[in-house]
Amino acid sequence: MEGENLNHPTWRICRAETSNIDAMLNLWSYIPEIQSSIADSFESVQGFMELNQASFLVALLDVKLIGTVMGGYNGWRGTIYHLAVHPDYRGQGIGRALLEQCIAVLHQRGAPRVDLYTYASNETAQAFYRKLGWRERKEVKNFSWEYSQNLKLPGDKG
Ligand SMILES: CC(C)(COP(=O)(O)OP(=O)(O)OC[C@H]1O[C@@H](n2cnc3c(N)ncnc32)[C@H](O)[C@@H]1OP(=O)(O)O)[C@@H](O)C(=O)NCCC(=O)NCCS
Repeated sequence: MEGENLNHPTWRICRAETSNIDAMLNLWSYIPEIQSSIADSFESVQGFMELNQASFLVALLDVKLIGTVMGGYNGWRGTIYHLAVHPDYRGQGIGRALLEQCIAVLHQRGAPRVDLYTYASNETAQAFYRKLGWRERKEVKNFSWEYSQNLKLPGDKG
């Protein structure tokens, strides 16, 4: 194809597939800002993929996985998780491309708004999102319910 140099393939964005999951779990394990999550198992990532086929994207260089973004839509709002680019490939527009394609698909799926969360200490990501025009919501605090931490469910006895 004209203009394409097959000896130096460039990266491309495509839908994530089950065959990418091991590589993405491996990539996340080396990125400190993607801190280990109880949801990061093969099965849970596959479950997210089944529900969000169009908005769970990866960046590939030839067959090498170099970036991810998980876009979820629950029929009401969109949420983005695990935007990550392999450290060797940052600063080339891959993070922007993943994020912009993901929010475009979430909008097509019906999301009127998309939210995402960063660790308060992740100033790099915050600077990146501000640069890309995301609105920082200082009025919001995040709460989580961790089933694994022996918290009682409503109605539990003892
Ligand atoms: C955040 C991250 C995804 C950015 O990916 P990237 O591929 O390096 O970003 P891009 O090259 O697409 O940068 C897009 C734009 O943001 C800017 N940018 C990137 N990092 C930035 C930073 N730390 N501060 C300010 N601007 C930044 C770039 O200059 C670029 O601007 P331009 O398009 O005007 O040239 C990447 O640094 C990463 O994987 N970080 C670790 C994981 C992480 O923290 N993810 C977020 C979890 S919430």
